[in-house]
Amino acid sequence: MRRIHILALTLLLLPLVFVATPKGSVIEGVVVDFQGPVPFATVRSQGQADCTRTDAAGKFNLRRRENATRVTAAKPGYRIGWTPSNRHPIQIRLAPLPSEDNFDYTWIDPVRDSKKPNNCGNCHGAIEREWAGSGHARSAVNPRVLTLFGGTESPLGKDWNLLEQHPLGAGVCASCHAPTMSSPTLDYDLRSVNGVAARGVHCDYCHKIADAPTDKLGTRFGRDGYELLRPHGDEQLFFGPLPDAVRPGDAFVYAPFYKESRYCASCHEGVIFGVHVYGTYTEWLQSPAAKAGTQCQDCHMTPTGAMTNVAPGHGGIERAPKTLASHDFPGGSLAMLKKCLRLEVRIRTEGNRTQVEMTLTADNVGHRVPTGFFDRNLVMVVEATDEAGRTVDAHDGPRLPAFAGANVAGQAGVLYAKTLTDDAGRTPLPFWLPYETMTDTRLHPGQPDRRTFTFPVVTKLRVRLLYRHLWPTVAERIASQDNELVILDQDLTAK
Ligand code: HEC
Ligand code: HEC
Ligand code: HEC
Ligand code: HEC
Ligand code: HEC
Repeated sequence: MRRIHILALTLLLLPLVFVATPKGSVIEGVVVDFQGPVPFATVRSQGQADCTRTDAAGKFNLRRRENATRVTAAKPGYRIGWTPSNRHPIQIRLAPLPSEDNFDYTWIDPVRDSKKPNNCGNCHGAIEREWAGSGHARSAVNPRVLTLFGGTESPLGKDWNLLEQHPLGAGVCASCHAPTMSSPTLDYDLRSVNGVAARGVHCDYCHKIADAPTDKLGTRFGRDGYELLRPHGDEQLFFGPLPDAVRPGDAFVYAPFYKESRYCASCHEGVIFGVHVYGTYTEWLQSPAAKAGTQCQDCHMTPTGAMTNVAPGHGGIERAPKTLASHDFPGGSLAMLKKCLRLEVRIRTEGNRTQVEMTLTADNVGHRVPTGFFDRNLVMVVEATDEAGRTVDAHDGPRLPAFAGANVAGQAGVLYAKTLTDDAGRTPLPFWLPYETMTDTRLHPGQPDRRTFTFPVVTKLRVRLLYRHLWPTVAERIASQDNELVILDQDLTAK
């Protein structure tokens, strides 16, 4: 009886012994705002993954970290607060966010310039270089965008020319391509964009996004779909994914939704002139990637592993490289396309015919392929030659239409694209013209597309996968050299 008693006592004591830690290794403190204690704030030593929460009285206990010199606290609705970790007692003050956006705010240029100390690139050199190579940096001055935007000087003449064909609609393009453009005449003519607005989708704009509601998605897009919070006076205010960023004198706001797809939605989803022109976000919602919890940022802002400090020499601290996202936003590049497209070819010759079965699959992608701009098109094409080296036509299987481009027209193959056709049968059309039908043959993520082509007996095959930014018929009229990317071009023996 007595022995059992002692055993039970030691069992009770054991946890107590392990929990009690030597004095000095725990930081005790309190988080307050101007009214009093702040419960449920997240507290951590700056740069450390482990964190704790304040209790109902705003109090916290945090394991001390030798190399962390600051303790930080964050809570939605407040700026990130901090204090040196060697203070006694520790009290962190949280300042609430301004209640109103400042419409008169002057946007800051991303590009480094020693005469303008606030320019982001002065301190965030590596991030600026990544961003400068991305589509976001070009979005307001991209020659392809301006060509289709058009006007009298467009090399496309009056066709595929927005200003000629639908001038009243021209104001919408800036809302995503130049979100900080101001237009005294309210026509938002992209051709006149200048100053910081010409930097397109730039740092200061993206990091003033305070919320990204998705309730009016598609019909409210670009800047009209975002809630911004721009500071008044000389203070700075940036929203971002780090819960513990500190730059003395300026303020940061921890915004976890910067790691979520919905952050990107307003600019990557848009019903324009009644046409579902941009659909990447809703495609993502239906994708296997979304079900697995994989966000746009996971694939398009993947940490490079090279960056350990976002503002080295300018107040940034060393951080785990896998926590720092990259800003190069790779899109429909050759590397990205190769990464996600897989083509399987089976060849069978029987009697007097050769059957070619081609299966194209898009994997490890968060949306349909191609996605993004309306005119993107992907072509799978197979050419066959017989023993004598003559090109032979398939007598069964899909064929490519003339508008798929002179280099593949009429050949055995499949076109993956969105196309508009009008009542006179004209196709493809620019998305701003009236149309009768819309066809969408693009690949679905994770769903193989299998096609069979039947040829007379052949000996050699050439299979190609081609990606185009614009329709070939449009690109050749503006002499666009880099319109077509060759994802695959392979010769096979049909034996
Ligand atoms: C298209 C909007 C967009 C633009 C443009 C943009 N950012 Fe970001 N930024 C983000 C998002 C989203 C994240 C969070 C990504 C994540 O954590 O997965 C982020 C993260 C950051 C971070 C936190 C550290 C890191 O790398 O994760 C810093 C610092 C930053 N951005 C600075 C900049 C600077 C400087 C520029 C311009 C040179 C810039 N951003 C341009 C959206 C943008
Ligand atoms: C303010 C609007 C805006 C926001 C916010 C935005 N984008 Fe974009 N994005 C654009 C525009 C406009 C383009 C087209 C640029 C061009 O090619 O002219 C683009 C292009 C891209 C491209 C293609 C780049 C290329 O080189 O082809 C990718 C990928 C991309 N965005 C991903 C994202 C992701 C991921 C997010 C969210 C973290 C995001 N974007 C947030 C407007 C935005
Ligand atoms: C004088 C130097 C300096 C300039 C200029 C500067 N930053 Fe920073 N920025 C910092 C420092 C320091 C940090 C904190 C780094 C850390 O905690 O490791 C930071 C952090 C950030 C973060 C992370 C916030 C978070 O909570 O995720 C963002 C976003 C950011 N800056 C955006 C910008 C943008 C946009 C500009 C230009 C408009 C800019 N910065 C200009 C020094 C600067
Ligand atoms: C699982 C990884 C993955 C996810 C998640 C993902 N993407 Fe992509 N994305 C890719 C790959 C791979 C490509 C290249 C294939 C292509 O162009 O369609 C691509 C291409 C793009 C392009 C360029 C399309 C073109 O052809 O011009 C844009 C824009 C884009 N993604 C935006 C987004 C946005 C916005 C989200 C979130 C709503 C997102 N992506 C989610 C992998 C992903
Ligand atoms: C809802 C936001 C949004 C609006 C509005 C918008 N765009 Fe875009 N635009 C984008 C995004 C995002 C991309 C990048 C998609 C991709 O890379 O495939 C893009 C890409 C493009 C491209 C392809 C650029 C290239 O280098 O191949 C052209 C051209 C273009 N847009 C023209 C226009 C025109 C003209 C308008 C006005 C009628 C317009 N856009 C309105 C978001 C928008």
